[in-house]
Amino acid sequence: MAPSLVAVSLLLLAAATGPVLGKPLSSQKTCTDVEIPLTVTSTNIGFGLPKFQTNFDVANFIDTVSSRNATTSGTVVAAPHNVTATYTISATFCKPKQALPAERQNTVLLATHGLAFDRSYWDPALDKADYSFVDAAIGRGYSVFYYDRLGVGKSSPVSGYVAQLFNQVAILTEITKRVKAGKYVGGKPDKVVLVGHSFGSTTSLNTAVDNVGLADGLVLTGFSFNSTFLNAIGFVEAVAPRIAAAQQPSKWAHLDTGYLTSADIYSGVTNFFKAPDYSQAVAKYADATKTPFAVTELITTGLISHPPYAFAGPVLLITGQYDFIFCTSDCDGALETPAAQFFGKAKPFKAISYPGAGHGLNLHLNAAGAFKEILDFVAASGL
Ligand SMILES: *[C@@H]1O[C@H](CO)[C@@H](O)[C@H](O)[C@H]1NC(C)=O
Ligand SMILES: *[C@@H]1O[C@H](CO)[C@@H](O)[C@H](O)[C@H]1NC(C)=O
Ligand SMILES: *[C@@H]1O[C@H](CO)[C@@H](O)[C@H](O)[C@H]1NC(C)=O
Repeated sequence: MAPSLVAVSLLLLAAATGPVLGKPLSSQKTCTDVEIPLTVTSTNIGFGLPKFQTNFDVANFIDTVSSRNATTSGTVVAAPHNVTATYTISATFCKPKQALPAERQNTVLLATHGLAFDRSYWDPALDKADYSFVDAAIGRGYSVFYYDRLGVGKSSPVSGYVAQLFNQVAILTEITKRVKAGKYVGGKPDKVVLVGHSFGSTTSLNTAVDNVGLADGLVLTGFSFNSTFLNAIGFVEAVAPRIAAAQQPSKWAHLDTGYLTSADIYSGVTNFFKAPDYSQAVAKYADATKTPFAVTELITTGLISHPPYAFAGPVLLITGQYDFIFCTSDCDGALETPAAQFFGKAKPFKAISYPGAGHGLNLHLNAAGAFKEILDFVAASGL
């Protein structure tokens, strides 16, 4: 190549790579909303108690599900049955506005939110530099595909006695197949990484390990496999679930009584936030934008696929140090066992108890640091 051409090429390269070396591209994203019709079959559990009439019935549910005498107090789970159904899932795809030379723009991070949120968990209407996982990922050259779970936001409404882990996994499996094939994301990506929060982590986990070869990497946030420190009963009691339609009829009158929501802002804070590591304005935002969850989602949250897993890609487990739900408020030293054994084939497996955060990892003052941990891991793993 003639010297002048080399000089021109270098200039072009410098122009193209400028944002990577300098300022993050945070505001420089192109986002498209997409409606996804799909038909899925799953083996769903039924709800074992009569449908709720009032919050007295919900109180009885809390007693039943918390009982140490599950055999005598009755079961909240009824026999499984196969269901085929057609739904529409509402999603957003964001990619860096400017084409980058880095290969990572061909990696899609496919994110699934947890209970009490909708897809905006990944890109909340808060200061983007501090709280937007989407912007953090875009700033590193990644694309992000994120969606409202079945029954949430703009996705199909269903009964709160129907939405559950198993149909959500069937839906994520179908979406992942389509994204891998290049649908909705402007062409076939090199890599698809499943990213989840809490219930969205269980959904991502089961999707990845039940379909080995489908996802290229897995990032589980607000999650743990260690049952010794799991605070399942404390979680349900702290939520103090109430029938959503009765609590805020202006928003939720259309939902059946299987849809529940936290009793008040403080029950949400107990589960999701850890003082002094959050802003009360952010906790108020989370409460004002909270979304109801299905009782059948609540009781299937912990039903992980049977370990050990053959999944051989990179796996990151990152959970706030003070996660109330999964670590009973202390994740230090609590995440590695038995997760590392379950993921004996993962290359690599890494667990991080992330300092200064509770269960709602993305909503703490240092969320940007958690995003950096995730994106550093993904990049270092060649994804
Ligand atoms: C709890 O279960 C044990 C063992 O089955 C039984 O002996 C006990 O009576 C039960 N207690 C209640 C309150 O049901
Ligand atoms: C669901 O369908 C599968 C595949 O046909 C079958 O093996 C299974 O027994 C069915 N489960 C139930 C609960 O009917
Ligand atoms: C949870 O973690 C602790 C500390 O590493 C460990 O001793 C314990 O065995 C773990 N529990 C399970 C169920 O693996």
